[in-house]
Amino acid sequence: MLLRVLGTAAGGGVPQWNCACPGCAGARRHPARRRLHDGLAVRSAHAGDWFLANATPDIAEQLESHPGLRPDAGRERTPVVRVVLTDAELDHTLGLFRLREASRIDIWCTPPVHRALTARLSLGEVLSPYTTLNWHELPLTGTASPADIGGLHLGAVPLSAKRPRYAADEPAHPAWSVALSIHDPATAKTALYAPALAAWSDRLTDAVAESDCVLIDGTFLTDDEPRRTGFSRRTASAMGHLPIDGPHGTARRLRGSGRQILYTHLNNSNPLVDPDDPAHERLAGLGLGVAADRTVVHL
Ligand code: MLT
Ligand code: MN
Ligand code: ZN
Repeated sequence: MLLRVLGTAAGGGVPQWNCACPGCAGARRHPARRRLHDGLAVRSAHAGDWFLANATPDIAEQLESHPGLRPDAGRERTPVVRVVLTDAELDHTLGLFRLREASRIDIWCTPPVHRALTARLSLGEVLSPYTTLNWHELPLTGTASPADIGGLHLGAVPLSAKRPRYAADEPAHPAWSVALSIHDPATAKTALYAPALAAWSDRLTDAVAESDCVLIDGTFLTDDEPRRTGFSRRTASAMGHLPIDGPHGTARRLRGSGRQILYTHLNNSNPLVDPDDPAHERLAGLGLGVAADRTVVHL
């Protein structure tokens, strides 16, 4: 399969419009350090049609940034767009509004995410004069057969009950936030995409072991980073993002896994947004990398 990395930043992107922290200032000085909100475009090794994993507020620029995703003169001007969601966060869903020129948007998500988007964001109501939304339930791995999207098999690994702030009073559900497992039967390769990891589980350990490439939550390098940088009064884990480093960090879980591991969803406070930060070399020594915008992973 082909994974096109559309963006690798957490909420706000790098730089974020209202922020002048060292990471944001560095990205203003060095445009190569800019990161758009995390998302992917994926297609199988031979079939032509791609789907999006998350639809970010940057979606139009992101599609434009990959020559392989731009429309060409011979193609349908109002295509069907396919979107698979890991959660209902604004940074992963606002792009659905920007895709209103599509003739139809097929959306795969879990039941609580569907409810948040329809009952709270009024997505169906607002978009109905523009396009048709076609909702599909995203099956959980191991409990139902996977969804077939363009020849790829998709399943969700439940990660947490963390709801978006705009839906904080919605009922708890274990699949508010999920990892996407994407399997290509043509190449027998699997990718795992988990941009918001609140807690580690045995199920996730198994999903990593079954994957060849893992794109995973790299919001914060250390647990105290949000507090130390004045970004929040809470720790990274209290904000629903396991840090990379530390006793409960994801690096300990993932190092030496033999899989291609790429951190994504980087917050602008994360020292890793500076390509010269020594943490890059240290993580590389553990077999862990950092995803970059506009790269393509072949699996
Ligand atoms: C997150 O990743 O924690 C959310 O996107 C934060 C938010 O926007 O509330
Ligand atoms: Mn986010
Ligand atoms: Zn900043």
